[in-house]
Amino acid sequence: MEYPQKDSLKILIIASEVAPFAKVGGLADVVASLPPAFKDLGCDVAVYLPAYRQILDYLDNNYEVILRDLPVQIGSKLLNTDILKAELAPGIPLFLARQNFLFDRPEIYQGKYGEYTDNLERYIFFSRSLPLFCSAAHIAPDIILANDWHTGLVMPLLNQGAMPRSAGVFTIHNMGYLGLVPPNRIDSIGLPEEYYRTDGLEFYGQMSLLKAGIIYSQAVVTVSPTYAEEIQTPTFGAGLDGLMRWVKESLYGVLNGVDYQDWNPATDPHLTANYSPGNLYGKRLCKKDILIKMGISKEFHDKPLIGMVTRLVEQKGCHLVAEAADALFDLGLSLVVLGSGDKDYERLFSNLKKKYPKRFGLKLGYDSILARQIIAGSDMFLIPSLYEPCGLTQMYSLKYGTIPIVRATGGLSDTIIDPHEDLPATGFKFHQASVPELMKAVTRALQTFKKKTDWPIMQETGMKCDFSWEYSAKKYLTIFEKAISIRRGMSK
Ligand code: ADP
Ligand code: GLC
Repeated sequence: MEYPQKDSLKILIIASEVAPFAKVGGLADVVASLPPAFKDLGCDVAVYLPAYRQILDYLDNNYEVILRDLPVQIGSKLLNTDILKAELAPGIPLFLARQNFLFDRPEIYQGKYGEYTDNLERYIFFSRSLPLFCSAAHIAPDIILANDWHTGLVMPLLNQGAMPRSAGVFTIHNMGYLGLVPPNRIDSIGLPEEYYRTDGLEFYGQMSLLKAGIIYSQAVVTVSPTYAEEIQTPTFGAGLDGLMRWVKESLYGVLNGVDYQDWNPATDPHLTANYSPGNLYGKRLCKKDILIKMGISKEFHDKPLIGMVTRLVEQKGCHLVAEAADALFDLGLSLVVLGSGDKDYERLFSNLKKKYPKRFGLKLGYDSILARQIIAGSDMFLIPSLYEPCGLTQMYSLKYGTIPIVRATGGLSDTIIDPHEDLPATGFKFHQASVPELMKAVTRALQTFKKKTDWPIMQETGMKCDFSWEYSAKKYLTIFEKAISIRRGMSK
């Protein structure tokens, strides 16, 4: 790999998603937008991902094959991988592990019948390919930044001495996914026996690849300051809160940033009309457009519109919305939801659509353009998450003049200011994950919505908030320096 600037910090990011090529959630946005911020700070940065079918389709042959048939051990099997090189952004290489049996599939993590049953093997394979790729390509990054359970195994591999110059930093985007390997599949991990202990990968009789990333990295980052505190408690720690307290000296909460070149209502090409602070006429046109698109009946077009764009999973508080639906619609508002995920939640929302066909708009599936149109066209954006490591859609909503109504947890706590907390406020928060609390926050939002001066002030305050990456990327760099000094001499 070219690392053109001789003395610059060399960073290799390994992850399971990157926008826009292969996106399921916010991890993809982060993996796409953080590297340019590192590059702007003078670092050499590259990204490493599986060569999913979706990425290859997107690239349409715009890549070169730089290595062929690297043999990767997985359990008792050897599977080969090619390494491809493309470009994520100008000057930012995207390396891809091509193993068609594992990654040439219709979706990233799940098929028609739920999660792929070999996801563990797929990401163990991918993680194990990293040191082989680096060695064969003669790459020696200063920092390997791995993300979530999919790439946690990279950290013990570095610890085994695979890449003695490279310090490992592990970012937790979501503690709820532990990457658990049951006893009968431990062989596929392929580490020596001493790693399978309580102070290693062991987790209540199974092995956790997330824990592997936490224990064997030189620094652990999570994606907001509040979540860094929360995961040290039993409620949010997913069984690893004790470990998080134990590593707290090397645990950092760094808020994710937003790429405002991509997320900007003044330039977003997917909106019916563009707009900016001071002139929100275009936003009114976006609202009209989305009301029609989502099938909201005309009689409700003058009423407040709440939007949601979300993975339909327990974490996102979907059941609260379903339980609150009658009370919400009693307030005279309408609601539009774009989401995909658990079939049970899809059914729950589909039933709601049958009950409120005129004022509930539902689109099940993944649609990146519709997501932007909902964020732009709604008056308010609801995020009732049970937990939220960072959350990006509240920051996108702020930029698009759409007032967030959020549960006060994780990054939602850190990015939204409620009028009860401080002024100028940017949104509304509720603390307990309950229908009455949610309803109180929505009611407060509607009261402010009626005030024709307060509402635009709140919108404008949000639109001017700056969550760009520069500040957070600098924080990462100071963490990287510490990790490197630990790796090259001191103990954690
Ligand atoms: P999470 O990563 O937990 O899903 P985030 O708020 O960090 O939550 O990021 C979610 C990202 O995924 C946002 O960019 C959001 O717009 C997008 N997204 C979620 N669900 C959908 C969907 N059904 N269609 C299109 N985009 C979606
Ligand atoms: C995870 C979290 C979300 C976070 C995203 C990017 O999917 O659920 O809160 O914003 O990762 O870090």
